[in-house]
Amino acid sequence: MQCILVDEGAKFQCRLTRLFEVLLYSVAMSELDFSNDTVLVSGAAAGIGRAIGNRLADAGAQLVLVDFDADGVRQTADTIGSSATALVGDLADGEAIDALVGQAWDKAGPITGLVNCAGIFPNTPMLDVDVDEWTRVLDTNLRAPFLMTQSVAKRMIEADVKGSVVNISSSAATLARPGVPHYGASKAGVQQLTRNMAIELAPHGIRVNAVAPGLIATERVMAKAAGAGKVEHEAKTARIPLGREGQPDEIAGLVLVMLSPLASYCTGSVLLADGGFTLGIPRY
Ligand SMILES: NC(=O)c1ccc[n+]([C@@H]2O[C@H](COP(=O)([O-])OP(=O)(O)OC[C@H]3O[C@@H](n4cnc5c(N)ncnc54)[C@H](O)[C@@H]3O)[C@@H](O)[C@H]2O)c1
Repeated sequence: MQCILVDEGAKFQCRLTRLFEVLLYSVAMSELDFSNDTVLVSGAAAGIGRAIGNRLADAGAQLVLVDFDADGVRQTADTIGSSATALVGDLADGEAIDALVGQAWDKAGPITGLVNCAGIFPNTPMLDVDVDEWTRVLDTNLRAPFLMTQSVAKRMIEADVKGSVVNISSSAATLARPGVPHYGASKAGVQQLTRNMAIELAPHGIRVNAVAPGLIATERVMAKAAGAGKVEHEAKTARIPLGREGQPDEIAGLVLVMLSPLASYCTGSVLLADGGFTLGIPRY
């Protein structure tokens, strides 16, 4: 916070404000201590999932990082060090998920947090989407978070672990645009799935929330923006009231808050983090 000092009284007030901020920050940071937690993060080989893994590691968590990009997920785990375990698996394969979660549980002990971040977002006009592409998007973006949460929650309940789940949705869940009929439907599904799972898991002390990012400057998004997706990217950025894309770390911070005791009374919430993208028309 910036202070403009008018006189000594204002100077004193400014110091108090600063002190209050520091106190608030320390309280928040102590509640963002994950040193007693083990968190499973899917999609951690790149982008937002990697940023979430890094932030959780900084906050002291033990991590199990899952992705089908073997090199990428091992690279994330290697950068973090011994507190991270990399597991390679294709989450679009529904039959494989329970075994993968079992492996994570056996390797890293009771899991207290789950972040369902893995996702794909092909851009294909509605009239050209075939059954395979539709199925792959829905299996990855919607069925996998369901099966992952079901599998983790069963183990949490059996081990009497109170935990927290965060699903990564998208502003595309509510804002329609061309080229993403399957993606938009999958992310809208994630939001309602979040609410339904939250109701059933609340009696077990397991909270389920979602974070819905807008346009985030991951490597994949920025590579596309530099090539064939330039016009679309510029059109999207132009309608963001905050005037820029978000950074992966800005989503990771929110995910940590939702996983932590700071959000202890939140379940079934969808937290939008889109720079105002879905508010309406930013200017004429
Ligand atoms: N980047 C954005 O602008 C944006 C905006 C809104 C929502 N999101 C959502 O955030 C999440 C992360 O997106 P990102 O931008 O970081 O993408 P990304 O492509 O950089 O990372 C996604 C990760 O998921 C992994 N993955 C994909 N399919 C998988 C599968 N079947 N099994 C295992 N791993 C798989 C990929 O290998 C990759 O590491 C996604 O759910 C996406 O829909 C992204």
